[in-house]
Amino acid sequence: MSRILLGVAGGIAAYKACQLVRLFAKAGHEVRVVPTENALQFVGKATWEALSGHPVHASVFEDIPSVPHVHLGTQADLIVVAPATADLLARAAGGRADDLLTNVLLMAACPVVLAPAMHTQMWIHAATRHSVELLRSRGAVVIEPAAGRLAGSDSGPGRMPEPEDIAATAFALLQDPGLAASCGSLDLSGKRVIVSAGGTREAIDPVRFLANSSSGKMGVSLARAAKIRGADVTLIGANLQVEIPAGVEHVAVRSTAELADAAFSLAGMADVVIMAAAVADFTPSATADSKIKKNGSKGLCLELVQTTDVLRELSANRPPGQIIVGFAAETASSEDELVELGTAKLTRKGCQLLVVNDVGGGKTFGSDSNSVWILGAEGVLNRVSSSKDVVAHRILDALKEV
Ligand code: CTP
Repeated sequence: MSRILLGVAGGIAAYKACQLVRLFAKAGHEVRVVPTENALQFVGKATWEALSGHPVHASVFEDIPSVPHVHLGTQADLIVVAPATADLLARAAGGRADDLLTNVLLMAACPVVLAPAMHTQMWIHAATRHSVELLRSRGAVVIEPAAGRLAGSDSGPGRMPEPEDIAATAFALLQDPGLAASCGSLDLSGKRVIVSAGGTREAIDPVRFLANSSSGKMGVSLARAAKIRGADVTLIGANLQVEIPAGVEHVAVRSTAELADAAFSLAGMADVVIMAAAVADFTPSATADSKIKKNGSKGLCLELVQTTDVLRELSANRPPGQIIVGFAAETASSEDELVELGTAKLTRKGCQLLVVNDVGGGKTFGSDSNSVWILGAEGVLNRVSSSKDVVAHRILDALKEV
């Protein structure tokens, strides 16, 4: 259990922060909420106290004997401010201490995540750009706002990122506080990243298919991480069992053939292509037009033919400078054997990075965590055992080593 302090500034998105308290508490964390006086105009103290189970103060002059402006900031393992308004960003960047939340931010010794929400004009204003740059230069993770409908009739960048995406970043930072530099760096800004995720389904007849156990979580974590780091992300999702992160373009596919079509048509423009999908190696040589009946037979023989190796084709036609990342789900008797299998696959597939994981005994599939080796042409670049969101960031870190 970690201690998360949720700061809430005075914007209409304050109502969405209620969902954040729930997500943090559901994950077993202790949550303390510090709203600004203006935030209380949108959502009252009673709501924050009921959701967090703790008393809530907005001013340094409440509960003076407990010195809340000191202990709340120093005791937190993570501070998340959502929504962070233009005013809050300016006050935090300027080092002001004119309410409890800004005092807490000055006392903080833990990672700080800010999730901005404001009108587009305010977000792109030079004053706000300056505040954001200053905060980022000091190590704060300022998540880019989503684009969409805002409080008035206007729309554009300025919407608070979805609570699920903020929570995913928060949990990754709690697991690995060293990630703050990667999450906050926007190192993929201006880059186009394609991620394939999920598991393909090969139709046998109109109601049956051959499938695999992939949920799509690893690929979705990669898409979310790349988005947070500033990339323009397209997710080719094969039968995903998880939500698509906000701001990520989604191309839904079912079979290997559909995935191959999508990947080949999108990859030409991409700076990075990550093939995290579990792609079928074989597909029925023909799909029956109508449901196959038993008709008294004791068995059924299916003839399977090999599918297109999408990763190999992409590598063979790779534009100059593009980085292609492959995945390998292997079963091996030792770590050395796993790395050997991965290294051979990296060479065979012609990709620049290969992420190998051990799937023996049903490990990994559907799980929220993963244990991987990240391989490059020179050998093992990193070994990560953590949540899929942390693993995703470490894979993106490895792009710099190609
Ligand atoms: N892959 C692909 N197209 C396929 C099969 C796999 O693009 N038809 C990609 C996967 O997305 C993954 C990588 O290739 O990134 C490795 O998949 P894997 O099934 O382990 O590779 P194979 O070549 O099928 O190796 P093996 O013979 O060990 O199954």
